[in-house]
Formats: sequence, structure tokens, C-alpha cells
Amino acid sequence: MNDTASDSAHSSSSAAARPDAAQAAPVVEMRQVNKWYGNYQALHAIDLQVARGERIVLCGPSGSGKSTLIRCVNQLERIDQGHLAVLGADLGQASPAATQALRKVGMVFQHFNLFPHMSVLDNCTLALRSVKKLGKQAAAECALHYLDQVGIANQAAKYPTQLSGGQQQRVAIARAICLEPEIMLFDEPTAALDPEMVKEVLEVMVRLAQTGMTMLCVTHEMGFARRVAERILFLDEGHLLEDTAPGEFFDSPRTERAQTFLRQIL
Ligand SMILES: Nc1ncnc2c1ncn2[C@@H]1O[C@H](COP(=O)(O)OP(=O)(O)OP(=O)(O)O)[C@@H](O)[C@H]1O
Ligand SMILES: [Mg+2]
Repeated sequence: MNDTASDSAHSSSSAAARPDAAQAAPVVEMRQVNKWYGNYQALHAIDLQVARGERIVLCGPSGSGKSTLIRCVNQLERIDQGHLAVLGADLGQASPAATQALRKVGMVFQHFNLFPHMSVLDNCTLALRSVKKLGKQAAAECALHYLDQVGIANQAAKYPTQLSGGQQQRVAIARAICLEPEIMLFDEPTAALDPEMVKEVLEVMVRLAQTGMTMLCVTHEMGFARRVAERILFLDEGHLLEDTAPGEFFDSPRTERAQTFLRQIL
């Protein structure tokens, strides 16, 4: 990753630079959120506010609840107790406002989740046509614009299996951002990639950060976290143990659990 690009990502578009009330309202708000899978409590009393444009990295041991937390934000998982609002819409009950808000949340998964029987272009135009109701030509133009942004427009006619893992993940990012989300969720987007492909995906994510996109990323790429994130959330056994700036988290983690975690991964 290029330090210059990362530094400018870090200095761009902090929420504090936008004083008006609508911009200052949190785009994600969790209050005392609890979530169970059967008898197992996966999230314990999570309090979290995310400001527009913030770039947040979630880390913690396997099973600590990182995926569960971000999947609640786009309702791939439902919370059981507490309050969750996204873009001002209460997700506690179905409503047109909640549906609208959820359309503004994009997600990228570890295993890309592209449709294997569809070309790269069709993977990207599918939701543009069905959700955004664009015509074939307009959808293709939009998709190609975003595929170009991730450096892969020349692969539009191929099928996912004809691409490398890094290329597939860039397609997945293009597919998400062509719907013009206001919040992007990433769940270990580079964890399934060979090392030489990690960089190309991280570079796309750095560029996305530079646009001012609100980002919640689960990742163990601590170089990316240190350079791009404004906040690090550390989870352990469903508890949000730390919520601090990267410098503080990496240089002087408060909890013994985070100290142990960092010793293991760094
Ligand atoms: N669908 C499910 N049904 C039952 N238990 C689940 C389900 N999804 C997650 N869990 C459990 O909830 C806990 C939190 O899981 P989660 O996937 O959020 O962890 P994680 O921090 O993302 O872990 P990893 O780093 O391995 O991806 C784990 O104990 C997991 O086994
Ligand atoms: Mg996970």
C-alpha cells in the first residue's frame, strides 16, 4: 500500500469537518444491543455510534462477534434487544424508512459471493436493474464506470471463475458501490486471498476511503487499520472492549485481552 494515498485517506473528510446537524447525526447507532444464537449470547450490550464518513476497523479473536455486529447493520442478522438505527431509521420494526436505509448499506464478503453463472458485468447490473430500475444500457454504463474505478472494466465480459481472487473481490466491491451506498461493510475482504492479491484489494479500499465513504471493516490487516481507520473497535466474546484511535490501540491497548491479541497477530 502506498503511504501517500493512505495518509491522504487519513486526512480527508472527517465527520468533525462537517458541522451541520444532518451530517453530525450518527449514521449507525447501537444502544445496549444484545444478540443470541440459541442460548449463546453473541453480542453483549453493544453501544456504538458511527458518524458519517468515519472509517472503522473491527478486530478481535475468532468468534468474538465481529461478523455478527456488522451483519446486524444491514439486517443479515437481527438484534434481539436494544436499539439499532441506520441513517436515522429505526431497524427495530419493518418500515419504508428502514427499507430505504438498508438500500444505502453495501457489503463485501470474504468469499466474494459473486453469481458464478453470470458475467462480471451482469453481476454488477443485476441490482441496478432490479432495485434501481435502470434500463439495460444505463445499468451497463453505470457498472462499467465502477468496474473502471476498481481497475477491472476490461474483464467485464468474463465469468467470475475466469478471474483471480483479487479481481473477483474488486468486482464484488464494484458491485456494491455501483448502488451508491452511504455505508460500506467489509467482512474480512482479503482473508481468502493469496498474499500478492491482498494489496490490490486494499488499494481499492483506500481509494474508497478517500471518497469519504463511511466504512466498517472487519480485517486483520493491521497496516491498513493503522493507516486508514479513525477508530478501532476490539471485540472479545461479544463485548466491545475497546473503541479507540489506532495509535492508542496499537501502542497502548487498555485491556489485557487486546494486549494478548496484538501480541499474537503482530
Ligand atoms: N448462525 C449462527 N448460529 C449459531 N451461532 C453462530 C452463528 N453465527 C455465529 N455464531 C456464533 O456466534 C459467535 C460470534 O460469531 P461471529 O461469526 O460473529 O464471530 P467473528 O468474530 O466474526 O469470528 P471470525 O473471526 O472467526 O469470523 C461465535 O461463537 C459463533 O460460533
Ligand atoms: Mg467473522
